[in-house]
Amino acid sequence: MSSDLSFFADTTQAPQRVLSGMRPTGALHLGHYFGAIKNWIALQETMRTFFFVADWHALTSEYENPLRIKEFIPELVKDWLVAGVDPERSVIFQQSQIKEHAELHLILSMITPVSWLERCPTYKEMIQQLAGKDLSTYGFLGYPVLMTSDVIVYRPRWVPVGQDQVPHLEISREICRRFNHLYGEFFPEPEALLTPQAKCPGLDGRKMSKSYNNSIQLREDMDSIAPKIKGMLTDKARLRRTDPGNPSDCNLYPYHELLTDEAARDEIRHGCGSASLGCVDCKAVLLKNLKTFLSPLQERRAYFDAHPEHIQEVLQAGNEAARKEARKTLEGVRCRIGL
Ligand code: TRP
Repeated sequence: MSSDLSFFADTTQAPQRVLSGMRPTGALHLGHYFGAIKNWIALQETMRTFFFVADWHALTSEYENPLRIKEFIPELVKDWLVAGVDPERSVIFQQSQIKEHAELHLILSMITPVSWLERCPTYKEMIQQLAGKDLSTYGFLGYPVLMTSDVIVYRPRWVPVGQDQVPHLEISREICRRFNHLYGEFFPEPEALLTPQAKCPGLDGRKMSKSYNNSIQLREDMDSIAPKIKGMLTDKARLRRTDPGNPSDCNLYPYHELLTDEAARDEIRHGCGSASLGCVDCKAVLLKNLKTFLSPLQERRAYFDAHPEHIQEVLQAGNEAARKEARKTLEGVRCRIGL
């Protein structure tokens, strides 16, 4: 079959496309920032970036509370804007407003073997983790199919995701290949772009997560953050102020890796190892750096709190831009399938 990619002639020379999304299920914390958003912000400088709120995906597990999803949509977009995702550089949009995702999902569902979905490791894990919820739904099994349509409808080269999403992207690539095999070469295979491993653990050393109650949210002020940092466990072997400590056994030190410059980090490592620096002072340094990091975010948040209409405007403009792209792709898909 011949491949007619003339629709996209304009994009072949353009910067490479990047697409990613998040479910609107809660306020963003430092783990999200250092694990994903920071990378998004860097990518938007050189690539054509698309970032979206995966509200339909949230519905796969939160179908009993759709209003909670709805409330979180502008909050999530606000967190992105506050963190530095720039609507002048990135297309910021909402999945459910682009009906083409649903049409493509339907078509892809026709060619996706159920066995691919049933053997997806995240499927089995989530069902176990959320044992209290009935996830034996058709939509939940099809989570990776919807995710595939989210991705390929924009024909990106790269999909920045965490390790946990890689199995989904693998399924996406298989679905792409199957589509291309059946209907002619059309979709480029997207590739996972693993976020460089910035380790931002929770306050207790486990993964930072709202449900573990060990997170620092981007919206928190220093009055709320300071007691959390002060209460953190450091090197447990360092019982007295005069005992030397080891940063690699300390819950606090990974935050210095993220927020403290190299020279100061050298001093900290040295001071900790020789007991010339105590944990209280070390925490004070971190708090100062956290404050420096968060204060521009807080300024931007104050702006968006005062102008909530700007968030809607960003979404509206992004939805329009995304829709335009999605429509082009769906025209191509319909034309290939002939229906
Ligand atoms: N499944 C992703 C998550 O839970 C969210 C998501 C939905 C997504 N569709 C996507 C991410 C497409 C990247 C691309 O984090």
